[in-house]
Amino acid sequence: MEYERQYEQYRLAVEEYLDGLFTGSAAYGRLYEAMRYSVLAGGKRIRPVLTLEFARLGGADWRTALPYACALELVHNYSLIHDDLPCMDDDDLRRGKPTNHKVYGETLAILAGDALQPEAFRLIAQAPGLSAESRIAATEVLAKAAGADGMVGGQVLDTLCLVTDEAGLTQLNRLKTCAMISAAAELGCVAAGMDGEKRRQAREFGDGLGLAFQLRDDILDVTGSEDVFGKPIGSDAEEGKTTFVNLKGLEKCQREVERQTARAKAAISGWPGCEFLMELADRMVKRVK
Ligand code: IPE
Ligand code: IPE
Ligand code: MG
Ligand code: MG
Ligand code: MG
Repeated sequence: MEYERQYEQYRLAVEEYLDGLFTGSAAYGRLYEAMRYSVLAGGKRIRPVLTLEFARLGGADWRTALPYACALELVHNYSLIHDDLPCMDDDDLRRGKPTNHKVYGETLAILAGDALQPEAFRLIAQAPGLSAESRIAATEVLAKAAGADGMVGGQVLDTLCLVTDEAGLTQLNRLKTCAMISAAAELGCVAAGMDGEKRRQAREFGDGLGLAFQLRDDILDVTGSEDVFGKPIGSDAEEGKTTFVNLKGLEKCQREVERQTARAKAAISGWPGCEFLMELADRMVKRVK
């Protein structure tokens, strides 16, 4: 199947699944509204698409992996709600819309993020058609990627520690971005019951893709157009952050995007049927949003 059609099929399945969440009525219904506002705001869905494609490559019916894919997407959305808060990156725009705290206020934005985390693990625990063993493995994968030694640790380095050297920035990016992208890939493997070696290769793919993805994000923070990128341009500079872009310059940074993408592709190049992932990785090199 042609790349765009396959991506769109996955993306629509993810949208539909997420649209079914947090729909009830409650005295605290504005919490649901705030959660849905971010979750359904038009993200690219790269992470859940990875989960679904890895599940397919492992021989599973990719639809059974939807709870894992969407669980990770919920955690990703919580991380972005908190990332935009005044005490973090202090940004007003995401996906071309006002950030969560701009619409719902800081208290509800924090609480919406808080609620998305356990809801993610509920989706995994309740996933139909997946064994208890698989659900425990998925819980561990997501918890590690999102936790202290994963995304949150990276966010601490990014916001509270003055990291200015290349090795430090790479470690920071690995934690804040690669951990979740690798976990997305690995969750697909877990849903399909793939072995440890395959899971390791999937994580390595995610590591290269994640580094390329974050470096490209940092480039777009300088050279992007707000209309297309959907986020404020110059946010990193305004927060006084050192990124690869100001450390190495735009050109070297883009070359590193290409190098890490090649690394990602090499990690799974022996997998039959991996053309979709190869194309996805290639498209991320030039992405503008
Ligand atoms: C944004 O991730 C955070 C980074 C790691 C740079 P995405 O660019 O995947 O965000 P959405 O979900 O598509 O908006
Ligand atoms: C990634 O870094 C954020 C998270 C891990 C949540 P950024 O702060 O660069 O992400 P954007 O640019 O706000 O999406
Ligand atoms: Mg940030
Ligand atoms: Mg940010
Ligand atoms: Mg950024």
